[in-house]
Amino acid sequence: MPTAQSFWDKAAEKYAASPIKDMDAYEATLARVRAHLNAGDAVLEIGCGTGTTALKLADTGADITATDISEKMIAIAEGKRAAAGVSTVRFRQATLDNHGLGERAFDVALSFNLLHLVGDVPAALREIGKLLKPGGLFISKTACLTDSMGYLKLILPVMRLFGKAPDTVHFFRTEDLDRMIEAAGFELIETGYYPEKTRSRFIVARKR
Ligand SMILES: C[S@@+](CC[C@H](N)C(=O)[O-])C[C@H]1O[C@@H](n2cnc3c(N)ncnc32)[C@H](O)[C@@H]1O
Repeated sequence: MPTAQSFWDKAAEKYAASPIKDMDAYEATLARVRAHLNAGDAVLEIGCGTGTTALKLADTGADITATDISEKMIAIAEGKRAAAGVSTVRFRQATLDNHGLGERAFDVALSFNLLHLVGDVPAALREIGKLLKPGGLFISKTACLTDSMGYLKLILPVMRLFGKAPDTVHFFRTEDLDRMIEAAGFELIETGYYPEKTRSRFIVARKR
């Protein structure tokens, strides 16, 4: 079984070359994220992939640290950052259980299309809480696969056999995801679906 890091390292080049599937939903998500960011905010992105979102959000004037488990994803992101000449975004390889980022360091933490892929979700959410300043925001978008693509559960073992799916994929229901975030010490202040059709849950949560 490949580790999460080796799986995502292997996927990185193909991921970088894949177009965003639903551009309207992506732009709608970015617009809602921008509404919560202020110039000068210290922002952490977790699971940033090849850096598209962090680089797009650079126009907010926030100071962005974008992290990912995959060194290959980070290398591609860093190449894009250098080519675009963006100085307010830094990319680094890190995970929530090995990051060295300090406590209460960030105004906002972002994670897009990540939570259903991390091993211990309650522990990850608690760690995000520790990284945020009091009153800080956690903004996430997460596939709730039980609500939209439950059939994947049947196909996943075969996909894994061919190296096409990571070891960890959680099948969340929206209500369970919402409750888990609340149980980690957050208050939900905004929710939505972008896109509606695939039940991709958008959540803005404030650290209590
Ligand atoms: C589906 S991709 C999403 C990438 C990007 N956030 C996006 O929305 O396009 C999941 C990303 O999470 C990263 N990842 C997976 N498990 C992780 C973990 N435990 N900690 C940090 N990053 C992780 C992968 O390397 C990959 O870049």
